[in-house]
Amino acid sequence: MNLLQWAIDPWGKIVPIHIAWLLIWVAAIAGLLFVIAHAIYVRYFAKPRQFRPDPVPIDPAKIPAYVPRHSLVARAFHWIMAASMFTLLLTAFLPKVGIQFDWVTYHWLAGAVLTVSVVFHIFHASFFLDFWSIWPDKIDLRDAQRRILRFVGKPVPPPERFAKYPLENKLYHGAIIVAGLSVIVTGVFMMSRVRTIFFPRNPYLFSDMSWGMMYVLHGLAGVGLIALIMVHVYFGIRPEKRPITKSMIFGWMSRDFYLEEHDPNRWVIKIPASSQTSTGAKAED
Ligand code: HEM
Repeated sequence: MNLLQWAIDPWGKIVPIHIAWLLIWVAAIAGLLFVIAHAIYVRYFAKPRQFRPDPVPIDPAKIPAYVPRHSLVARAFHWIMAASMFTLLLTAFLPKVGIQFDWVTYHWLAGAVLTVSVVFHIFHASFFLDFWSIWPDKIDLRDAQRRILRFVGKPVPPPERFAKYPLENKLYHGAIIVAGLSVIVTGVFMMSRVRTIFFPRNPYLFSDMSWGMMYVLHGLAGVGLIALIMVHVYFGIRPEKRPITKSMIFGWMSRDFYLEEHDPNRWVIKIPASSQTSTGAKAED
């Protein structure tokens, strides 16, 4: 089975030109199988989660009733990125599975929106958000080991509750960085193969071999995103994850959910003095 499509360049050399479009179905089926396997595991086999009890009990009254999680700017970025990502997936792959339309202009326009929003996100996350909160730390790695050992029945202490993001979310974010930056960097170059408003068309910028590799990388990262986005949407609508999804809409999560899943020592909530009450008030972003 050939995973790439090949052609012969003017000098008689065989060069790759695209991925084999069959990979669209491979990615979609892989995503679907993951979703089905996970749903069956959670429904029939998973034991209730256990976390290490707090050495010093936490006073819930010190936590606001509405725990701020995502600022308005971070939420706006997320939804702009989601809209452009869906547009890119649909415009790229519908024509390949038989639904023909003039897709290229919509595709590079959505690509430009994604590129600008990701550049903005990198700047915003580096200077205005807690940059390290999305990268695995030592406790995540130790707890991942503990979770695996407990899964196979070994007597090790339970893991601690999560910091702002569980390890799974951090790993997912890493995968999105790899696939997202691959489509963005290759996509920006590929814009010089078609007519856009950004720069003059120049299909001779690279050799046929380099263009071929670029289209292949763009396609591979693109089909990877099919599976990644399917899994992301699945977790977003799972009942136990809905408080997290709601926080991406409204910006906050409830105190109960925060205390259940997150460790206030690992994810410290900064509450402006003016918005605190003895019962815990809504804190500002
Ligand atoms: C979810 C993200 C994306 C997916 C799934 C995706 C997928 C694809 C696919 C499958 C193709 C056809 C490639 C081929 O013929 O071998 C393509 C072409 C293209 N993409 Fe993307 N892409 C994405 C993001 C982007 C971004 C961010 C940009 C621009 C910054 C972009 C710009 C382009 C351009 C200019 C073409 C070339 C059209 C042509 O030569 O006819 N894409 N994309």
